[in-house]
Formats: sequence, C-alpha cells, structure tokens
Amino acid sequence: MGNFLAGKAVAVTGAGRGIGRAVALACAAEGAGVVVNDHGVSVDGAEPASEVARAVAAEIEAAGGEAVAVADDISAMAGGQRVVDTALARFGRLDGAVCVAGILRERMLFNMTEEEWDPVVATHLKGTFTVFRAASAVMRRQGSGTLVGFTSGNHQGSVAQANYAAAKGGVISLVRSAALGLHKYGVTANAVAPVARTRMSANVPVELKEIGEPEDVAALVVYLLSERARAEGITGQVYTVAGPKIAVWAQPRELRAAYADGTWTPERIADFLPGTVGTDPMPMLARLDAMARAAASGDRPNR
Ligand SMILES: NC(=O)c1ccc[n+]([C@@H]2O[C@H](COP(=O)([O-])OP(=O)(O)OC[C@H]3O[C@@H](n4cnc5c(N)ncnc54)[C@H](O)[C@@H]3O)[C@@H](O)[C@H]2O)c1
Repeated sequence: MGNFLAGKAVAVTGAGRGIGRAVALACAAEGAGVVVNDHGVSVDGAEPASEVARAVAAEIEAAGGEAVAVADDISAMAGGQRVVDTALARFGRLDGAVCVAGILRERMLFNMTEEEWDPVVATHLKGTFTVFRAASAVMRRQGSGTLVGFTSGNHQGSVAQANYAAAKGGVISLVRSAALGLHKYGVTANAVAPVARTRMSANVPVELKEIGEPEDVAALVVYLLSERARAEGITGQVYTVAGPKIAVWAQPRELRAAYADGTWTPERIADFLPGTVGTDPMPMLARLDAMARAAASGDRPNR
C-alpha cells in the first residue's frame, strides 16, 4: 500500500468492473476509504445486479482496505445523493468523487431511437451531474475536494455513437464548469479520456494502436485526487491515458476571427469567409477517409 491518498474518502461510480474497479482498488491501496458504486448492469445498461459493487468492496476489505458498497443507479438524483451520503456516514468526509459509470447503445444517428439516446446521456452526463452536484456541496463546505469525470476521445465525434459522443462532450463542459465554479472553494475538477482493455472497449470494431490496462488509468486518477496534483493547481484539464501515453487536450478557443466592415449579409459572408476565417479540418474525418481506404484495399482498419 502507498499513501498517496492517506486519510481521504473517495467515491467511485461504475466501480464494480473495468476501469472503475481498478480506480477503486488503487484508491484503497493508496490509503483512501472508498465508496464502491455500481448498478451492475450489462454494457447496454440492462439487468441491474447489486453483487457487482459488493464484490469489489469485499475485495478491498480482504486486502486490508476500507470500503462500502452502493448499488444505486447514479442516473437518478437519489442515486448520486446516496453515494455522497454514504461517504459522509461511513468516513465523515468526501475528498474525491470519480464518475466512471457508463453504458453504450450504438446506432447510426438516422436510426437512433429515444430509448437509445436517453439512457446513454442519462448515465454519462446526468450520472456525472448527480454525483458532482451532491459532492460539490460537501466539498464547498469542506473547502477542499477533487472531482473527476470520465470522457472519451469520442467527444470529438463518432460515426455510430452520437449519443455517447454528445454525452462525453457534455461531461467535459460540466467538468470545466465545475473547475470554474468551485475554484474559489479549493475544489478541483478534471476529466479523463481512457483507452483500456475492458468489456466495453472489446466491442470497438477497429484495432486500437494505443491501448492499455485499467490500472494505467487508475494511476492517473489517484494522482489527480492527490495533494501532489492539487498543489500543482491542476484543474479544468482533460487527460488521455492509453497504456504508456498520457496526453493533455487543448482548451477550446477561437482559431481565427474576422470583422465586418458594417453589417454581415449572407452574400458578404459567402465572398469573405472561405478565404479568411476558413475552417479547422476535422482530424476524425481525415482518419475516417484513411480507414475507408485501408478497408477498400483489404487491410484491417486501425486508429
Ligand atoms: N474502456 C475504454 O477504452 C474506454 C474508452 C473511452 C471511455 N471510456 C469510459 O470509461 C468509463 C468506464 O468504462 P469501462 O470500459 O470500464 O466500462 P465497463 O462496462 O467495464 O464498466 C462500466 C461500469 O459502469 C456501471 N454502470 C453503468 N451504468 C450505471 C449506473 N447507471 N449506475 C451505476 N453504475 C453503472 C456498469 O455496471 C459497469 O460495471 C465509461 O464512462 C466509459 O465510457 C472507456
């Protein structure tokens, strides 16, 4: 056991499997008391089972750590509140809230149903809000705390997961809003975009060139929760972790601007915009074209 998180209490959603489980185990191994939340659902969000959360809490306790299981659905306000209330009841405080829970319902946009859109956005985006909402109230009173949201490289856009991509983009904006709104209360907020071998990533139809293990992701989350990261003032950031690689994403900003001499009309914009403000080409679109060419020539597409 290390002591990166000695004396801290951390709540982790989606902690029954995959990355969340690795985060919960790593937090406990570094000295934190852990609330292990997992609704125990299938990849598409069906068939809840409470044993999943209990099993990881038992695993932590068997290794000499402290943990408590919560099997609630964090897409409901009461679920997020219960996760936070459980940390307060058991540990008397909450220093970290890590929202890892997620599901997939893949479909092309033109075929996507409301039943495929709503639960995905509810699990990722609202499920981060419910926990951040309850946790931030506690952390504001404490004058300290760290929020961690889980996003994906797919926040740039996705061919067949518009619901997931939109939710993951929303998580980034939520994290940045938390970083801004809670800065003066000593609370930091960051997002992690992982690439790791789990049951969820096993469904990706292309070969990923850069992929690692859930433990790689857990190490980054432990760091972000630690006083070392807090002392560096790390907040409002998005980090990719993929095996040996850690990358920071750029903050969104205007790339080029131009100003009208008078007022804009569609005609003046048509004459002016292409050669001045122009576009910022989508890297994902270029990659898609490359994948289509590779597939056409019989190669296995990769990215
Ligand atoms: N694995 C990757 O390469 C990868 C890539 C990009 C993003 N992510 C993100 O990382 C996170 C973890 O993914 P994973 O690969 O470990 O997936 P996983 O399917 O192994 O684990 C997700 C866990 O979340 C739980 N869960 C789902 N809905 C829930 C709810 N409403 N309430 C509580 N728990 C719920 C599930 O029961 C499951 O145990 C997700 O947010 C995912 O979108 C993963």
